[in-house]
Amino acid sequence: MIKEKVEKIINEQIEKEAYSSNLYLAMASWAETSGYEGVSNWLHAQANEERMHMLKFISYVNERGGKAVIPAIKKPPVAFKTVHDMFKQVLTHEEYITDSINEIVATCIEQKDFSTQNWVQWFVTEQIEEEKSVRAIIDKLSLVGKNNDNLYLFDKDILGMRGTATAAE
Ligand code: FEO
Repeated sequence: MIKEKVEKIINEQIEKEAYSSNLYLAMASWAETSGYEGVSNWLHAQANEERMHMLKFISYVNERGGKAVIPAIKKPPVAFKTVHDMFKQVLTHEEYITDSINEIVATCIEQKDFSTQNWVQWFVTEQIEEEKSVRAIIDKLSLVGKNNDNLYLFDKDILGMRGTATAAE
C-alpha cells in the first residue's frame, strides 16, 4: 500500500505532467500557425510524451492501492516571442520538472518507500535525456541567430528528429 505522503506528491506530479503536455501542445499550435512545421512536430511529440508520463504516474498510484486524481489544468500561454525564446522556456520548465522528480525521490527516502524510489528512477534518467536534448536545440538556435534563412533550415532539420508526431503515437 502506497504511503499517503507519496500518493500526494505523485498526484501533484500527475498535474505537472498534464500541464507539461498542454504547455507543449500550446507551443506546437503556436509553431504550426507561425509556419514552423518542424518545431511544431517536435513539440507535438513532446506533448504526447508528457501525456504518457502522466499516464504512467496514474497507473502506478492506482496499482499500489492509492487513488490517482485527474486534475484541472491551468491554461498555458497562447503566444511566444521567438522560437529561441520558446525553447528557453521549455528548458526552464524541464528543469522545474527535474526538481520536482527529485522531490519525489526525497519523499520516498523519507517515507522509506524504496519500491517507489526504485520505480521513479526511470523518470530521473528521462529528465537527464530531456534536458540534454533541449539544450542541444538551444545551442543550434544560438548559431541560427536572427537569420530567417537559417531558421528555415533549422526547422527542416528538427522535422526529421522525432518522426511524424501530429497523430497520436
Ligand atoms: Fe515529463 Fe518533460 O518531463
